[in-house]
Amino acid sequence: MHPAIILYPRNMKAKPPSESFTEMTELVLPQHTNAVGTAFGGAIMSWIDICASIAAKRHCGRVSVTARIEAIEFKAPIKVGDVVRLTARLNAAFNTSMEIGIRVEREHAETGERALCADARATFVKIGDDGKPCSVPPLLLETEEDLRRAEEAEVRRRRRRQER
Ligand SMILES: CC(C)(COP(=O)(O)OP(=O)(O)OC[C@H]1O[C@@H](n2cnc3c(N)ncnc32)[C@H](O)[C@@H]1OP(=O)(O)O)[C@@H](O)C(=O)NCCC(=O)NCCS
Repeated sequence: MHPAIILYPRNMKAKPPSESFTEMTELVLPQHTNAVGTAFGGAIMSWIDICASIAAKRHCGRVSVTARIEAIEFKAPIKVGDVVRLTARLNAAFNTSMEIGIRVEREHAETGERALCADARATFVKIGDDGKPCSVPPLLLETEEDLRRAEEAEVRRRRRRQER
């Protein structure tokens, strides 16, 4: 176990990723499918956005907006009738933004076995009463994995800011 680390110290109580971890279940219906009978990418993207927005809201305690969805990869098709499990987990909390990792898995109806079908990363920004970005609580990094994810997110954020 890694000693708890807070990368962005502020006057707010830090929360571990487990407090905002979000799990969502969907059933692929005919209206979610494309011309070849598999789940339409746009439907999956919508579920990704919803699942990540719930995790962001759980972490920061109020509404936040999607600033970016990146690195979406559809790795395997999902068929009509399949049960889909989405999970969203905070990778990092910065000043007013949060990076969230999302996984989409298909559940085998008989065995309950899960297979990764898609993943993505999203950045959400907390919005205050004045409509402007405002500070989010720090993320409490308790494990080696928490720390690795936060450091990787920090590298991506720094790179983005340099590119702007
Ligand atoms: C996201 C938004 C609030 C950012 O506002 P802004 O005036 O550019 O604010 P700032 O430049 O001060 O950036 C605020 C934070 O957002 C982050 N950010 C802004 N644009 C970003 C982007 N495209 N990708 C990743 N992060 C971004 C900044 O890095 C900053 O993070 P930090 O405070 O943790 O360092 C604004 O661009 C917006 O309202 N976009 C539309 C959102 C929307 O309609 N989404 C779809 C529906 S929910």
